[in-house]
Amino acid sequence: MTDKKSFYITTPIYYPSGKLHIGSAYTTIACDVMARYKRLMGYDVFYLTGLDEHGQKIQQKAREAGISPQAYVDSMAESVKELWELLDISYDKFIRTTDSYHEDVVAKVFEQLLAQGDIYLGEYTGWYSVSDEEYFTESQLAEVFRDKEGQVIGGIAPSGHEVEKVAEECYFFRLSKYADRLVAFFKEHPDFITPHGRMNEMLKNFIEPGLEDLAVSRTTFTWGVEVPSNPKHVVYVWIDALINYITALGYGQQDYSNFDKFWPADIHMIGKDILRFHSIYWPIILMALDLPLPKRLVAHGWFVMQDGKMSKSKGNVVYPEMLVERYGLDSLRYYLMRSLPVGSDGTFTPEDYIGRINYELANDLGNLLNRTVAMINKYFNGSIPAYAEKVTAVDADLEAFVAENLTDYHRQMEAVDYPRALEAVWQIISRTNKYIDETAPWVLAKDSGKNQELAAVMAHLAASLRVVAHLIQPFMMATSDAIMEQLGFGPAFDLVSLSLSAMPSGAKVIAQGSPVFPRLDMEAEIAYIKEQMNADKASEQEWNPEEVELKSDKALVVFDDFDKLEIRVAEVKAVEKIAGSDKLLSFRLDAGDGEDRQILSGIAKYYPNEQELVGRKVQIVANLKPRKMMKKYISQGMILSAEHDGQLTLLTVDPTLPNGSVIG
Ligand code: MSP
Repeated sequence: MTDKKSFYITTPIYYPSGKLHIGSAYTTIACDVMARYKRLMGYDVFYLTGLDEHGQKIQQKAREAGISPQAYVDSMAESVKELWELLDISYDKFIRTTDSYHEDVVAKVFEQLLAQGDIYLGEYTGWYSVSDEEYFTESQLAEVFRDKEGQVIGGIAPSGHEVEKVAEECYFFRLSKYADRLVAFFKEHPDFITPHGRMNEMLKNFIEPGLEDLAVSRTTFTWGVEVPSNPKHVVYVWIDALINYITALGYGQQDYSNFDKFWPADIHMIGKDILRFHSIYWPIILMALDLPLPKRLVAHGWFVMQDGKMSKSKGNVVYPEMLVERYGLDSLRYYLMRSLPVGSDGTFTPEDYIGRINYELANDLGNLLNRTVAMINKYFNGSIPAYAEKVTAVDADLEAFVAENLTDYHRQMEAVDYPRALEAVWQIISRTNKYIDETAPWVLAKDSGKNQELAAVMAHLAASLRVVAHLIQPFMMATSDAIMEQLGFGPAFDLVSLSLSAMPSGAKVIAQGSPVFPRLDMEAEIAYIKEQMNADKASEQEWNPEEVELKSDKALVVFDDFDKLEIRVAEVKAVEKIAGSDKLLSFRLDAGDGEDRQILSGIAKYYPNEQELVGRKVQIVANLKPRKMMKKYISQGMILSAEHDGQLTLLTVDPTLPNGSVIG
């Protein structure tokens, strides 16, 4: 038994912070196409996809949904898996960064890098965008807000999201140490990044100006992998996320068989927005771990809409489920792979979508199949005549054309240029349609002396369609199977020895083929897609919160306003009256933060026997700015109470709740 050649391909791991749109579907289908292609080319393929489940944004989303982060990511993971099933994604493994095997290795790797001196403890000051999960220096901000003295007090990230100031203790990765090795690697591997131009962009924009050390831990949120030697820090998402590519193969665990077989990755497929992380940080992490670097990064552009980026509020988001439900999976896979040019952005338009289904799928491909099946039935009782080469000059011309485009197809597949690979297939389809007109079988059929020619024409048509069915198999599995079935061939696919002449003899086409793609009413379907895109916007707008009547004495606030408050359970350790005030009591409380805090509260007259409060568990606003009261007392928060009929009562909680428990 010979060992098959291995091939390892990965998608980025997606943030499960919302429903995935056709953008993420694009990348996942693009990898699926390559995985299927390589399997048909005889490779042993490992296709990895998954989710990037840690970080502040996820923690926030879960809080908004009123569930724990784990419950939130569990339910998102289920719906993402359902989507991949709908899109027939043939992944071999689905990794979640909350999987315990992954978390263990993240912690181990972090400690190793720390021990090696690649990671050190420092302080980070800068600007953070929650939406982007990214930190920015002042100069990286698209816009800055200043106070009267000219001090920067806020700003907008390049993505358009607002940033907030942060200053915190933080671990850093000493990237600069590896800069020279990275530059040397780039020089030795000019094909490392597709498209090629992007390598220079990385060098000019990030490496040559000097690599800044990278912040790799956070203390401002808890939803992540704890740093074992300093658990108030969690590993900040990029180290956690990037090493998924090796933990999924068993790195740092017991069984290295997959790692030995598949690492280094053959292709990391990513969007252009995360190329910096994959082309700079990832290779450097691997160098620090003394591991080989991936062979190739393929950075694709984005699907955008005619009016710019997809956004719910613009009403221009397209979800894959709707398109699959209405037009079938294969048209979606075909459209996405056919219309995004390599490396640049592509525009999704309903006109283009329906147009391609009608012209390229229903007309060009569908008609060729229908005509072929009908003629073989009519002229040869359904039996495909044996293939013979170059019976006429037109045959010879077709043969050469198919061979040329077959070579081109493989070249384009290797280049991960799917639009051009599919273009090569559609060249074959058009040429074969033209071949029918040139040979005019209906004329040959009238002349019994031309029977051999007619047989050659039918055999060439079937052979050409068989080639087409093979070439589209990685893209459109069901259509490819349907073509093979209508022609009476078994479902065995072999792309390695594919050629016109490799057609098995004796196949019998089915009596009457049904169209693989029905023709659509252009106008009606374009209107349908537009309506669906707007339905999301409408469903958001229908819900105008201002119109819902709420009985409240104060103006409505949004969740974010509420979320600014930190309300905690605190235990009363001691209470004292304050001399000179008949209102105030001074409380010493344990709010679970290691040190007791003092809070002054104006409730003395409701609790004449104030010592009864000692030992009670109350609710405090823990992040209220400290203030000075009665000239010398500092009050560090506020104790919550309820008022009724002029009477104040402290809000106590179940005494079994630990001090410091967060209320919200
Ligand atoms: N979690 C990180 C990736 C970590 S990989 C170690 C992340 N996740 S993401 O969900 O925000 O984005 C995932 C991918 O989707 C990116 O490659 C991004 O480019 C891609 N796309 C997001 N919107 C897109 C389009 N509209 N069109 C095409 N791809 C798009 O970044």
